Amino acid sequence: MSSRAYDCLTKIGERIIENKDYLTDLDREIGDADHGVNMARGFHAVAEKVPADMEDIGALLKKTGMTLLSTVGGASGPLYGTAYMEAGKVVAGKTALTAEDLKLMLDAAIAGIQKRGKAVKGEKTMLDALIPAYETYAAAVEAGDELLPALEKACAAAEEGVEFTKTIHATKGRASYLGDRSIGHQDPGATSATITLEALRDFLKEEE
Ligand SMILES: Nc1ncnc2c1ncn2[C@@H]1O[C@H](COP(=O)(O)OP(=O)(O)OP(=O)(O)O)[C@@H](O)[C@H]1O
Ligand SMILES: [Mg+2]
Repeated sequence: MSSRAYDCLTKIGERIIENKDYLTDLDREIGDADHGVNMARGFHAVAEKVPADMEDIGALLKKTGMTLLSTVGGASGPLYGTAYMEAGKVVAGKTALTAEDLKLMLDAAIAGIQKRGKAVKGEKTMLDALIPAYETYAAAVEAGDELLPALEKACAAAEEGVEFTKTIHATKGRASYLGDRSIGHQDPGATSATITLEALRDFLKEEE
């Protein structure tokens, strides 16, 4: 039998793989047309390597992060790999998540991405989806929301963040070579980050 955490991870992987061409097309406009291919390769490897019966969410995320790190490649491989591994550290040994756990996981994932990629908000990266999502999520939880309603608000903030990436020019990664010509295009990494959060939201919604 597969664990609930594994089923959730599978949903995330399926969504990424379904959006392979979409993500790659976005990266064709401002990068090198490989983001969807990179991410899909990573999640195919995750499906092969992560044991389905793994219940410890921390261990599952660690294994996922290590697998992404060694298979995704590009700029996003180390960044997503680090994000999953750092998120896993704060929930080591847990088999279910509280609203507070997810807040800590998002915070740790973002800190890991920033430590590795040296980017801040507003540079047209995945952080432009993740940071507003985290801020919205944390505010909702502090105001008393349960996990799912807070995550729904966070997903809306991530989508707004993706829209925002169309209005700014890139200063990190390959897209920065385009300068102002990157304006008008949506960031692929912000899009894949939003797809990830929405997959988590939809998994939890379907369970209700
Ligand atoms: N320093 C960074 N910090 C956070 N995210 C970044 C950084 N550099 C790139 N990214 C994200 O990675 C995405 C591109 O990932 P991809 O899988 O296409 O790798 P890549 O082709 O090597 O990347 P790039 O062309 O940006 O160097 C971007 O859309 C952006 O969101
Ligand atoms: Mg690329």
